[in-house]
Amino acid sequence: MGPLSAPPCTQRIKWKGLLLTASLLNFWNPPTIAQVTIEAQPPKVSEGKDVLLLVHNLPQNLTGYMWYKGQIRDLYHYITSYVVDGQRITYGPTYSGRETVYSNASLLIQNVTREDAGSYTLHIIQRGDGTRGGNLLSVFCTVETPKPSISSSKLNPREIMEGVVLICDPATPNANYLWWLNGQNLPTTQRLQLSKTNRTLFIFGATKYTAGPYECEIRNPVSASRSDPFTLNLLPKLPKPYITINNSKPRENKDVLAFTCEPKSENYTYIWWLNGESLPVSPRVKRPIENRILILPSVTRNETGPYQCEIRDRYGGIRSDPVTLNVLYDITYGPDLPRIYPSFTYYRSGQNLDLSCFTESNPPAQYSWTINGKFQQSGQKLSIPQVTTKHRGLYACSVHNSATGKESSKSMTVEVSAPPGIGRLPFFTPIEQP
Ligand SMILES: *[C@@H]1O[C@H](CO)[C@@H](O)[C@H](O)[C@H]1NC(C)=O
Ligand SMILES: *[C@@H]1O[C@H](CO)[C@@H](O)[C@H](O)[C@H]1NC(C)=O
Ligand SMILES: *[C@@H]1O[C@H](CO)[C@@H](O)[C@H](O)[C@H]1NC(C)=O
Ligand SMILES: *[C@@H]1O[C@H](CO)[C@@H](O)[C@H](O)[C@H]1NC(C)=O
Ligand SMILES: *[C@@H]1O[C@H](CO)[C@@H](O)[C@H](O)[C@H]1NC(C)=O
Ligand SMILES: *[C@@H]1O[C@H](CO)[C@@H](O)[C@H](O)[C@H]1NC(C)=O
Ligand SMILES: *[C@@H]1O[C@H](CO)[C@@H](O)[C@H](O)[C@H]1NC(C)=O
Repeated sequence: MGPLSAPPCTQRIKWKGLLLTASLLNFWNPPTIAQVTIEAQPPKVSEGKDVLLLVHNLPQNLTGYMWYKGQIRDLYHYITSYVVDGQRITYGPTYSGRETVYSNASLLIQNVTREDAGSYTLHIIQRGDGTRGGNLLSVFCTVETPKPSISSSKLNPREIMEGVVLICDPATPNANYLWWLNGQNLPTTQRLQLSKTNRTLFIFGATKYTAGPYECEIRNPVSASRSDPFTLNLLPKLPKPYITINNSKPRENKDVLAFTCEPKSENYTYIWWLNGESLPVSPRVKRPIENRILILPSVTRNETGPYQCEIRDRYGGIRSDPVTLNVLYDITYGPDLPRIYPSFTYYRSGQNLDLSCFTESNPPAQYSWTINGKFQQSGQKLSIPQVTTKHRGLYACSVHNSATGKESSKSMTVEVSAPPGIGRLPFFTPIEQP
């Protein structure tokens, strides 16, 4: 078989196994160089066999030849070279150990692999004007395209929510990738985007319209093959769960609280989160009904949340919005034991008595004052201007929280001394004294 004069790669032929054909795609000869041609022997080679790139009509008086992988003549693509003077052979970064250059410029490639498919460039350096050289380009029409298959980033995407990446395998040099959806060309939609090479297909939000079947095809100048159809197994969307609480105003350390994660389904497992951490199993917290219900035997001010519940199926989960029990509004507490200010006991007649009472309580407590057990007034403050000895007694502040139903009280003794000069005479009882 003589040198090929035209690329055979325009034909679409199916070959068995790996196919390497060489063709003269393009050549440029300076006027002093005759028609240089390259022939691949054999013209078709199977993987693992050898191929010889025969160079014909090599001109005389050459300094040497250099072979490059691809169509670029730079150091990175340099395979091997032959220098006529001294018959020296040198190797470049692309040398695989399987290439042999001969003195007549021909290149033998042994144990051909898929990666060998592609273009090769021969650079001929002429003696004399050493800068000039024939630049021959030969193309290996690549391997017969293997039957491709589609791989997916997710086998079971959730409807609408999840993006999927489909890849047409294997990566094949010098090949084009084509995609079909339902046997048609890909529709033009934002939901389907191809990568630069067309090998990867991005599906933004899988729906039943984009579930497939997909097919991909690998095509090169000599062959084409199509994958089996590939269909996404769309999972139903997980509903966003939410929490219900059976008591919106729990009293601290008093009420039993039940959190329920909705919706209910035997298909889900339920997980609880407190402050973003999965709620540890503890004897205090009970979880009947497969974890869907969370029972807190009591709540304290430091357990306000946020609480979240999560539903999971075999493929994934989704969390509810966080629910926070707000201390001020959601947890009622108190009243704690009140305190009375100022706390001193002794007053002189004519002084003003101003007492205030404080307690911790939510909602705020109702205050009331008694003197010697008799109701005096409501309110946090008690003021008596210009006390007299009549005002001696046991003063008590009572606090009451209607939400918790609790009350508490604190009492103190007030002594009032008689004004100077009006001391009580031992045998004199004022008439007006009751
Ligand atoms: C080879 O080079 C020599 C000297 O440069 C020249 O005399 C001779 O003609 C050349 N031969 C051919 C075939 O080009
Ligand atoms: C080619 O493959 C054969 C068998 O795998 C091996 O023995 C031989 O060394 C290889 N030759 C080269 C040049 O890699
Ligand atoms: C170049 O040399 C190789 C190895 O000796 C040989 O197989 C090939 O036929 C030669 N090429 C030409 C065009 O004579
Ligand atoms: C990718 O496919 C489009 C048509 O779908 C085509 O126009 C484009 O040339 C292809 N790109 C490559 C690198 O094959
Ligand atoms: C909330 O549920 C718990 C546990 O079932 C129960 O003990 C408590 O009484 C319930 N509270 C209200 C206000 O229903
Ligand atoms: C649970 O899953 C089964 C099959 O997987 C389905 O038929 C059923 O409707 C699901 N139940 C609920 C409540 O989602
Ligand atoms: C929360 O409050 C309870 C009861 O008041 C207490 O036992 C517990 O240590 C507190 N936990 C934290 C983290 O403060």
